[in-house]
Amino acid sequence: MWLLTALLLWVPVGGQVDPTKAVITLQPPWVSVFQDEQVTLLCEGPQPPGDNSTRWFLNGTAIQTSTSKYSITAARVSESGEYRCQTGLSVPSDPVQLEIRRDWLLLQISSRVFTEGEPLTLRCHAWKSKPVYNVLFYQNGKAFQFSPRNSEFTIQKTNTSHNGVYHCSGLGRHRYTSEGVTVTVKELFSVPVLRASLSLPLLEGNLVTLSCETTLLPERAGLQLYYSFYVGSKTLVDRNASSKYQILAARREDSGSYWCEAVTEDGNVLKRSPALELQVLGEREDGLLLTREKRLPFLL
Ligand SMILES: *[C@@H]1O[C@H](CO)[C@@H](O)[C@H](O)[C@H]1NC(C)=O
Ligand SMILES: *[C@@H]1O[C@H](CO)[C@@H](O)[C@H](O)[C@H]1NC(C)=O
Ligand SMILES: *[C@@H]1O[C@H](CO)[C@@H](O)[C@H](O)[C@H]1NC(C)=O
Ligand SMILES: *[C@@H]1O[C@H](CO)[C@@H](O)[C@H](O)[C@H]1NC(C)=O
Repeated sequence: MWLLTALLLWVPVGGQVDPTKAVITLQPPWVSVFQDEQVTLLCEGPQPPGDNSTRWFLNGTAIQTSTSKYSITAARVSESGEYRCQTGLSVPSDPVQLEIRRDWLLLQISSRVFTEGEPLTLRCHAWKSKPVYNVLFYQNGKAFQFSPRNSEFTIQKTNTSHNGVYHCSGLGRHRYTSEGVTVTVKELFSVPVLRASLSLPLLEGNLVTLSCETTLLPERAGLQLYYSFYVGSKTLVDRNASSKYQILAARREDSGSYWCEAVTEDGNVLKRSPALELQVLGEREDGLLLTREKRLPFLL
């Protein structure tokens, strides 16, 4: 019974992550460290009451640790690999690829895979924490950040333009260059497209529904997005949970350039659709359809 209760108490957080999946956090946060450095892996996930046991796997093989904390005090190259953990009521976590290296300079990153909007921290770290100066960070071979002393840099909100291979160089006794590391940023949702339920142009009196269509990353399928609708510079709807906007009976004055925006609840990721030119045609007595522009000469 308490097993079921515990499952029910573990409610999803805004549908953002799979609640039954354990999560590994690294302390310090780097997925690569030098040999002899220290790193702690923490496992968090739903547990039945009174049972803290955690299972750890390295390259798919169980390792002899049953606490939620797995400490490596002096890392060895042979401890590199894919770590996963699992708690009493969880499914195994996503893997953390931990790399233990011997080199002069190491570009450390806080994760290899990101979802758009998450921060990415990079650190250019020298063997035995020797000081390095005039640090350059590169993405795909192109330097994008210079740092005279501080060798850490954070991209506050990642987007797909941050995909690529990163490395760094820094000045110690010589100029050293790190190996490259690949960073993948997954799009949280696609750029929305505004579609009309009827083919365009519309006729006066038409009922039309505008849909702000976007596709969520499958693993975030439950995430609630908020939608805004605009015509020209005028706001029609500001951040509503509904992705649809209805014009009950179109008038010629409703003609214009429509666009929509989709945004996450925290406002961290916001995307705007291209414009949809919506034209509403008036109907003359003789049944000929004419646009407003074509009508102008008649009015003059
Ligand atoms: C679970 O962990 C807490 C502290 O983290 C400890 O006090 C408690 O004794 C542990 N329970 C079991 C069953 O290991
Ligand atoms: C785990 O797998 C990786 C990649 O296949 C390998 O380099 C590493 O040595 C393995 N680690 C262990 C502890 O077997
Ligand atoms: C991605 O983020 C950078 C800032 O880090 C920004 O300049 C750029 O416009 C963004 N690209 C997209 C497609 O949002
Ligand atoms: C917001 O969306 C709800 C349905 O999700 C709808 O009933 C409501 O009318 C919308 N509000 C506006 C201002 O469009």
